Amino acid sequence: MSLQGKLALVTGSGRGIGKAIALKLASQGINIIINYFRHRENAEQTARDVESLGVKAEVIKANVGDPEKIDEMFDMIGTKFGCLDILINNAASGVGRPVADIDVKAWEWTMDINARALLLCAQRAAKLMEGRGGKIVSISSLGSRFVLPNYTIVGVSKAALEALTRYLAIELAPQNICVNTVAASAVETEALKFYFKEGLAKDSSQLTPAGRMVAPEDVANIVAFLCSEEAFMIRGQTIIVDGGTSVGLFALAGK
Ligand SMILES: NC(=O)c1ccc[n+]([C@@H]2O[C@H](COP(=O)([O-])OP(=O)(O)OC[C@H]3O[C@@H](n4cnc5c(N)ncnc54)[C@H](OP(=O)(O)O)[C@@H]3O)[C@@H](O)[C@H]2O)c1
Repeated sequence: MSLQGKLALVTGSGRGIGKAIALKLASQGINIIINYFRHRENAEQTARDVESLGVKAEVIKANVGDPEKIDEMFDMIGTKFGCLDILINNAASGVGRPVADIDVKAWEWTMDINARALLLCAQRAAKLMEGRGGKIVSISSLGSRFVLPNYTIVGVSKAALEALTRYLAIELAPQNICVNTVAASAVETEALKFYFKEGLAKDSSQLTPAGRMVAPEDVANIVAFLCSEEAFMIRGQTIIVDGGTSVGLFALAGK
């Protein structure tokens, strides 16, 4: 089944992995709603790049950590388009600290943006998908199951995201909505530069059996597959895109 003419919302798609996903979906004829939080120029550039692929683009500002802003975003989508086919829950933020320094503010900030946003966006998206079915795909990281330095809150938020993916997949199945997550190892984006700076990530190309780091496009390719009808029977899963890093941890330990 062709995805031509469908409508996708990609949260946090002004740059990085979200942008790569927006462009991949656009290349398949899908119209894209680009959500951003702080950097409008990036979002507008993504919109121009999306339009250059021959589909329509809409830019909406919303902090997905704020329930009111999520409601405003979906009200806008409802008013302008009246429907939605695909939700990509990509936007994320986080505070990198050792356990001893985690406070309630840092915990809530990270959990609200990374985990609660999926719940609230999925609730609203499901209403716009009523009678037509849909796809919901989130982006997680290996930190949901492996311990990374100073990554506690983000790792826990991603674990919650993956658990919520399973519950949504079952509860939304009667509405013909497929829900899955893609979990990546380190991907070269602005976020990773931050983690390098904070000493949270090291050059992982040597730890990747595939021989290079994961690129945003590698993640986007799997997201696009999960949005296709070929992936109809994949439900509630977290698909790992890491070039073999996680299964090769012990084999690579001596490198
Ligand atoms: N990079 C990696 O190594 C890696 C690895 C595994 C998983 N991931 C996951 O992949 C996803 C994208 O990561 P990335 O590396 O592309 O990140 P990034 O380069 O830091 O970009 C983050 C994007 O999210 C948006 N955003 C942040 N907070 C937001 C909020 N409260 N509301 C709405 N949008 C918000 C930003 O928009 P503005 O710029 O407008 O604020 C930006 O477009 C995240 O879920 C991340 O956890 C990344």
